[in-house]
Amino acid sequence: MENPFVFGKIISGDHFLDREKEQQRLQRNILSGINSMLVSPRRWGKSSLVRQVAERIQQDDSSVRFCFIDMFNIRKEEDFYSRFVTAILKTGSERWEKWMEDAKLFLTGLIPKFSMGSDPMNDFSVSLDWKEVKKNPEEILSLPEIISIKKKIRIVVCIDEFQNLGFFNEPLVFQKILRANWQLHKNAVYILLGSRRHMLTDLFNNPSMPFYRFGDLVMLEKIPAGFWPLFISERFTRSGKKFPETLAANIPALLENHPYYIQYLTHEIWGNIENEVTEKTVENAISNLLDQNNYLFQMQTDNLPNTQVAFLRALSDGVASFTSMETMKKYDLGSVSNIRRIREALIQKEIIDISPGKLEFLDPLYKLWFTKNFMT
Ligand SMILES: Nc1ncnc2c1ncn2[C@@H]1O[C@H](COP(=O)(O)OP(=O)(O)OP(=O)(O)O)[C@@H](O)[C@H]1O
Ligand SMILES: [Mg+2]
Repeated sequence: MENPFVFGKIISGDHFLDREKEQQRLQRNILSGINSMLVSPRRWGKSSLVRQVAERIQQDDSSVRFCFIDMFNIRKEEDFYSRFVTAILKTGSERWEKWMEDAKLFLTGLIPKFSMGSDPMNDFSVSLDWKEVKKNPEEILSLPEIISIKKKIRIVVCIDEFQNLGFFNEPLVFQKILRANWQLHKNAVYILLGSRRHMLTDLFNNPSMPFYRFGDLVMLEKIPAGFWPLFISERFTRSGKKFPETLAANIPALLENHPYYIQYLTHEIWGNIENEVTEKTVENAISNLLDQNNYLFQMQTDNLPNTQVAFLRALSDGVASFTSMETMKKYDLGSVSNIRRIREALIQKEIIDISPGKLEFLDPLYKLWFTKNFMT
């Protein structure tokens, strides 16, 4: 029997829990032609949410077509443009012969080169002459709108890991070009997703930035604890095992409601037992997770200077005021400005985060690991 808990992959359908309000909000935006920006720390469920909404909409309306572009491995503007063209052409039609036809029809100022192997449906790609693209990026960026109009469809362009544009040579110029084009579009809709909360909030919320007010900014939260116990215990029951709901109710708090970690832990528990879950099984599973991640967490900590480790110690101790004389002395944190620098560095490294007024570890398992190894 297949393990009913899935982690580390984009999930939808039966594996997908709650997010009803967010699904409706995105759906409303899409159907009324409003762009969305979806931001949260890593692994809280952004990509899955968009995939879920896409599946839901497409069930009733085949004129809305989703195009997914993942920027996780895109570091250069020119790669973005060729990936963009390829993805949009593939969204516009079902057959590869049509993709070439459309490219010739709609990209008149550029001479696209096609490459494909034995399976054009999967290995078709378009490359472009970068010098030409630079002179006329509009032609590429308008493609979703032009194809949407010509084919009487609505293309929804979902760009994942959008924060990666920070690696480009001139991110600001790039954003200006994108914004200038996309804001004119009435048929195509854009959803931009990303996980560097501070960078992206600045990018979308700062009046001096090109993407300011580009659309509806959704700051995704974790899934509330109350949804998990039934989700967990039902999956055990359906697969012939037992995880009493009262016991499953402890799981979200152990991992601070982190969706990825809840699925990771329950996956581990399910795999470890034949029949019924007990408190001991849960304890053992947590300990396995810590072991499995030991090397990674050790490396991450080895890369931190002493002052940052000291800061994390104070945070684990539940220190409320880092700048009190007592704390600064106890943890050897240096001056007030030093503390600010340490904090900024840890935020940059995505180890800690400030969520409304509260400073916390971003990764609940790392927090457990750190407490176990550095606080005894
Ligand atoms: N709605 C949900 N219901 C159940 N589990 C979820 C849900 N959303 C996310 N998860 C869990 O979290 C994991 C990560 O989800 P996803 O990849 O969508 O997050 P993400 O925010 O896009 O992450 P990243 O920033 O790393 O791209 C999933 O594999 C799944 O285990
Ligand atoms: Mg994602």
